[in-house]
Amino acid sequence: MSITTTIVNGVARIGIDRREKKNAITAAMYQSMADAIGSAHDDAAVRAILISGQPDIFTAGNDLEDFAKNPPADMDAPVFKFMQALGYAEKPVVAAVNGAAVGIGTTMLMHCDLVYCAENSVFSMPFVTLGLCPEFASSLLVPLNAGYHKAVEKLLLADPISAAEAVEMKIVNRVLPSGDVLDFAIRQAERFNQLPPASVRTTKRLLRSGFKALTEKVIVDEAKLFGSMVRSDEAKEAFAAFFERRKPDFSRFS
Ligand code: COA
Repeated sequence: MSITTTIVNGVARIGIDRREKKNAITAAMYQSMADAIGSAHDDAAVRAILISGQPDIFTAGNDLEDFAKNPPADMDAPVFKFMQALGYAEKPVVAAVNGAAVGIGTTMLMHCDLVYCAENSVFSMPFVTLGLCPEFASSLLVPLNAGYHKAVEKLLLADPISAAEAVEMKIVNRVLPSGDVLDFAIRQAERFNQLPPASVRTTKRLLRSGFKALTEKVIVDEAKLFGSMVRSDEAKEAFAAFFERRKPDFSRFS
């Protein structure tokens, strides 16, 4: 079981559950999550969506083996379907993060509406160290939220982000004790049961409308670059180094 989906008290809960691989996300898992968001959209009884991982790991990001074997070819790839479903979700999306949130694990949070994390959370966007480039508008949204110089540390140098720093960077709402995060996020999601759904949808759409066109443009621009970089020799070296448990050697590249 790698993606769990349940609907409890008006909340569609999507759980990432692949502990043996640190919740690394495969194409099949992206598809399951995209389908779950689509079903939540169609179900009038669902008032909010909740995404969570496991108590010690949110996600190690893209499954690098799956990624190397089947790099996303176009905007129909499951990873795009998931991010589109998330980005266009009309209902509020709440995220509960424990442990590491790597790569898309951090990127996806910028497309959620409320994000709660544990004291043990560590966020990172190691696109450059993997021979890649930012994805799904992170090159726009990180500097927008946190400022340009902070974005350089996090996206160019790929420095990890602690829970407290994630709040400062405005990518997380609140830090909670590890054991409390999921319950708190569930309670926040359930609050939408008491609110008028059309008003919630309209207000969410308005809150996101200011940067919508620009965000969509950046997503397409990044996708074109990412699609070629994921097939590059730099990325191949980085992926091989991860699985061989060694440091990558980029010295031969110019
Ligand atoms: N893709 C595929 N497999 C992954 C993975 C990923 N992104 N992340 C972890 N795994 C696998 C490891 O290969 C290992 O498998 P094995 O037991 O068969 O050897 C298993 O999950 C445990 O990983 P390990 O690295 O030993 O765990 P850790 O607790 O020491 O470190 C992380 C956890 C998340 C910090 C580390 O696994 C990591 O950095 N992963 C890669 C993150 C990444 O670069 N993601 C892509 C972003 S675009």
